Amino acid sequence: MGCFHYCCVAKEKFHRKSIKKSIKGYREAKSLASFANISFKTESSRHRYITEELRKIGKGNNNITAKIFSYRELSVATTNFNPDNLLGEGGFGRVYRGKLEGTNQDVAVKQLDRNGFQGNREFLVEVLMLSMLSNPYLVNLVGYCVDGDQRILVYEYMPNGSLEDHLLDLPPNRKALDWNTRMKIAHGAARGLEYLHESAQPPVIYRDFKASNVLLDQDFNPKLSDFGLAKLGPTGDKSHVSTRVMGTYGYCAPEYALTGQLTAKSDVYSFGVVFLEIITGRRVIDNSRPTEEQNLVTWATPLFKDRRKFTMMADPLLEGNYPIKGLYQALAVAAMCLQEEAGTRPMMSDVVTAIEYLAHSKEEACIEDSLDSCHHGRNSQEPTAAARGSTVLMDRKSF
Ligand SMILES: Nc1ncnc2c1ncn2[C@@H]1O[C@H](COP(=O)(O)OP(=O)(O)OP(=O)(O)O)[C@@H](O)[C@H]1O
Ligand SMILES: [Mg+2]
Repeated sequence: MGCFHYCCVAKEKFHRKSIKKSIKGYREAKSLASFANISFKTESSRHRYITEELRKIGKGNNNITAKIFSYRELSVATTNFNPDNLLGEGGFGRVYRGKLEGTNQDVAVKQLDRNGFQGNREFLVEVLMLSMLSNPYLVNLVGYCVDGDQRILVYEYMPNGSLEDHLLDLPPNRKALDWNTRMKIAHGAARGLEYLHESAQPPVIYRDFKASNVLLDQDFNPKLSDFGLAKLGPTGDKSHVSTRVMGTYGYCAPEYALTGQLTAKSDVYSFGVVFLEIITGRRVIDNSRPTEEQNLVTWATPLFKDRRKFTMMADPLLEGNYPIKGLYQALAVAAMCLQEEAGTRPMMSDVVTAIEYLAHSKEEACIEDSLDSCHHGRNSQEPTAAARGSTVLMDRKSF
């Protein structure tokens, strides 16, 4: 594991220089942030602009390895976007499994919904961000397609789907994740955010950290996906970026939801929410639970203050198979990330250090006898659309 850690760090350092160079080069022409805020008179001028920008960025930029696909190539790869190949559907559109002709590479093909509110800007930001950033904990963008009205993103295929699929939407035949795998996923996801905040130049605020955006490879190594909402972080003396409030109900930091002022600490809050979901197996907003338990953070806040209540918070599906000390420490990390005051939340590098210990701890899992009262099954009622956790433009008053 030590070797693995070293390799990743070395790779990150290697990439840091080239990302810096490529982002700098692009910013000289046009800043990504201002580009993301651009508005267009007509749909066709928007289309022309985007096609031209992508062509310019792709040209003469050695770091952009994303391939440009035609619609036909992706139709072949997904057998005409056959519903049998559907992997899932989110706020941006449908995701299909595909196989690229020639290379036989397995891919996930996300076809953006032309009627959805998410549009060209998110598409472009996603292509640019994923082209310029590179890290073992970020999903790899294989390519994209801008063909007529079509906007399609092609990613590496992640055989184990999303963390949400293994944690919050567990079909009866699927085994619950064990404690060590949960900590390994939390650790990798934290490293992805740490890279965005503390290594990428300029820094990036991810803005949409949630269980469905953490994808899992065949060994349950996590990778962050969906960069359409990502923002280049504040530069110079600025402490925050002012922006429309976008994100997913429940995961969004309170100060960002109220003021629209975005900082890296907003991502730290969202990480705290997902980490709490990992520990408890509870969805952040779950309308099928009793009123006082529907909001995970509201439910957990008083419990954080009483160590004797900690075992009540562990996912019943763990059946007590977790190290007690590890549970305490994990809950302490989650509570720190979820502090109301953004300034008192830790940096992601501190979170990584804390979880590293939990992920690599060899402590024997112990069975908690006192958990009997919590061993009720997961409520199988269908969650509402909001609780399904799709990315939305948030109305500050309704938050
Ligand atoms: N690269 C991938 N490999 C395998 N499965 C994927 C991949 N990308 C997405 N999926 C599957 O498709 C589902 C839908 O993904 P998508 O990102 O479109 O929506 P979401 O994250 O659920 O919601 P939102 O659009 O609000 O972020 C995911 O939950 C996951 O199961
Ligand atoms: Mg997603």
